[in-house]
Amino acid sequence: MSFRTLLTEDLGAVRRITINRPDKLNALNRDTLVELDVAFTQAAADDAIRAIVLRGAGGKAFVAGADIAELAALTPVQARDFSHIGQQMMWRVEHLGKPVIAEIGGYALGGGLELAMCCHLRIASENARFGLPEITLGLLPGFGGTQRLLRLAGRGAALELCLTGTQIDAARAFALGVITRVVAPDALEAETLALAEQFAASAPHAMRAILDAVIVGGEAALDAGLEFETLSFGMVSSTEDMREGTRAFIERRKPSFQGR
Ligand code: COA
Repeated sequence: MSFRTLLTEDLGAVRRITINRPDKLNALNRDTLVELDVAFTQAAADDAIRAIVLRGAGGKAFVAGADIAELAALTPVQARDFSHIGQQMMWRVEHLGKPVIAEIGGYALGGGLELAMCCHLRIASENARFGLPEITLGLLPGFGGTQRLLRLAGRGAALELCLTGTQIDAARAFALGVITRVVAPDALEAETLALAEQFAASAPHAMRAILDAVIVGGEAALDAGLEFETLSFGMVSSTEDMREGTRAFIERRKPSFQGR
């Protein structure tokens, strides 16, 4: 399927999804939210795809936020629906069961930072900028930003960024735990792809079990999370990939995981 606001390409088992509204710094309008939902649903359903990279076109921004021109014209009911569509899509990304890496080559503001935070890993270039500037518009984050930033960086950082709307650089975002890796701008694409390829070559049932244990299990009480982990451990131990991984170690060769 072709999209109006996205470009997708497959590089082996890695699907790269590029938000393609560079003249608007890839701002998230309703169409883009809906198309992202479809694109991630397709990536989840395609067994040949084992890792996803999400990025923005144009080199200046990952995403500079929800589309302010569109936001400004919404009625309260439409605004609630807009928030709901964005939240649902981002929930889907977070619970995809396949690793999603945000490749952040510039501004990740407002809805852009919220979108990056629902991805499993965030690799940013040294010149990327981050923030939740909704307060400067008389608003608050509406795509999960208050909740995910709280969980990633703690209450102090979440309140500072949400209440002030200040932009921070990649070094501070890394120190706060908001992003997982910082690289030179000219290394961003290659490093992100290399990590995605590593994930794509890994055992997909084990990858999924790890994602679910951390993301789903991590929201439960410790006892429930531990039980979730132990049940997943038993299930994954029954896969052919587990046999292959342990046999390859003993035979001193590289494993070849087939997703069975
Ligand atoms: N929604 C809609 N359009 C946006 C946008 C957004 N969130 N962010 C940028 N754009 C548009 C601008 O309106 C401009 O369009 P135009 O050329 O048709 O006028 C184009 O993208 C380029 O942006 P511009 O502001 O000219 O670039 P800049 O380099 O001067 O500034 C930013 C870059 C990111 C600092 C600035 O665009 C900005 O503050 N954007 C809004 C960030 C924000 O508040 N996001 C949260 C939204 S909830």
